[in-house]
Amino acid sequence: MEMPLLDAIRKTIAQSKARFHTPGHKVRPKDCIHEAVLGLLGDRPFAADLTELPGLDNLSAPTEVLRQTERLCARIFGAKESIILTCGASSGVVAAILAACHPGSIILVPRECHRSVLSGVVLSGAEPVFYPSQVVHFHDLPAGVPVADLCELIRSIRPTALLLSNPNYFGVCRDLRKAVALARELGIVTIADEAHGAHLPFVRPEASAISWGADIVIHGAHKTLSVLTQGAIVHFSGDLNMASRFRDSLRLVHTTSPSYIILASIEGMAAHLQSRGGEKLRRLAALAVELKSRLQTDERIRIFPTGVELEPDSWVDPFKITLAWVGIDARSAERELITAYGVYPELVCGNDMLFLLGEGDGQETLQLLENSIREVASRYKARGATGKPLIWTRFLQEPWPERLMNPREAFFKKREWVSIQHATGRVCAEPVLLYPPGIPLIWPGEAFTAELCSFLSEAAEAGWSMIGLDESRCVEVCTEG
Ligand SMILES: Cc1ncc(COP(=O)(O)O)c(C=O)c1O
Repeated sequence: MEMPLLDAIRKTIAQSKARFHTPGHKVRPKDCIHEAVLGLLGDRPFAADLTELPGLDNLSAPTEVLRQTERLCARIFGAKESIILTCGASSGVVAAILAACHPGSIILVPRECHRSVLSGVVLSGAEPVFYPSQVVHFHDLPAGVPVADLCELIRSIRPTALLLSNPNYFGVCRDLRKAVALARELGIVTIADEAHGAHLPFVRPEASAISWGADIVIHGAHKTLSVLTQGAIVHFSGDLNMASRFRDSLRLVHTTSPSYIILASIEGMAAHLQSRGGEKLRRLAALAVELKSRLQTDERIRIFPTGVELEPDSWVDPFKITLAWVGIDARSAERELITAYGVYPELVCGNDMLFLLGEGDGQETLQLLENSIREVASRYKARGATGKPLIWTRFLQEPWPERLMNPREAFFKKREWVSIQHATGRVCAEPVLLYPPGIPLIWPGEAFTAELCSFLSEAAEAGWSMIGLDESRCVEVCTEG
């Protein structure tokens, strides 16, 4: 199997005796790399920590080995073109919005989008128009938008760009191909934030926006494939002019010093998938489906979407195992899972807990997951009901808070911190997000409502993890006058 990038990295390591270029450590383990770091990592990552040297290409305008990796990605993911990134899916989402929009352009976005969408909107000066998500009440989870509603909005608003979150953070995929086709017909650019769906082209290709012909599809490859953190790939399967426009936009936000270690891991993942196909991913998906159906029988937990009527166009990604603890405090369960079993979930939100599977999982890890969930559930049985649940998904539904300014305008206004108790009616300067999942509950330019302020106080009290609300429970608002 040809791996030109890895070969080039190996050759450079073998040839170099003195490195008069970045990075500064120069692979001098004894002289300047702390022994604790060497103890943890060894010196191999430092040896492969290279930069744009002869033979190693340049990610800002790749023509050699990195371009070959991109072409390989396009082939195996079924895209017309692909571009690789080392600054996470976030940089891909921001660059996609910058490529598709200009100041004042209307972009249709799901209210449940990730904060990187907000960053793209602030940087581009686009005007977001939100669409709501349906909500699964028992779990307090967003479940995407029905395609007919989205098509109606596209027809009436005629935005410059349409943004989709597919799958959403909780693994709900909707069949939105008709919306993508309509957007194409109307000359609207479709951006699919498929950060959590890099495995979809191999597990269920028809659920990936690549197969729908979306113009820009962003994969946070590190989330579910065997790629180092921050490794991402952006695919183009519609208008190819977007690829070149995207590359230009990417230069505005991406580092000029990409990590060759991350890049090598992307090539390795692509080479693996090329030689083995997606069989391992499909096997894992089947194991996850079996695990979910076994856990469904345990009355102390409720596996999403058991007992929930999802719309017929919805499908839940097997790589996301979300469960609600019944009568058990989810944070206590999380502590127990970590301390007693070494099992770390991806997220705890209210009483829901989400476990994210990835290419590296298999029979053994899934068995450990099943055993630990069952044992924690049985041990906590005696605890009885937990307190009143806090419902966060109501902020993903209309009416939205009143918008008094465009997000970009609000972002650049003078700002001050005010206590959440006094924030009602004040214009948000910095969003407040639940983290994870990184979904803004309020956008810059919107007025804080009394309902949101009281939710934020209660959520802080209950120990929810949030960004944008500091330890003294203050938020950043635009100064008045
Ligand atoms: C839906 C969605 N899009 C984009 C991102 C950003 O991904 P990254 O962390 O790779 O920058 C995330 C991160 O969790 C996400 O959930």
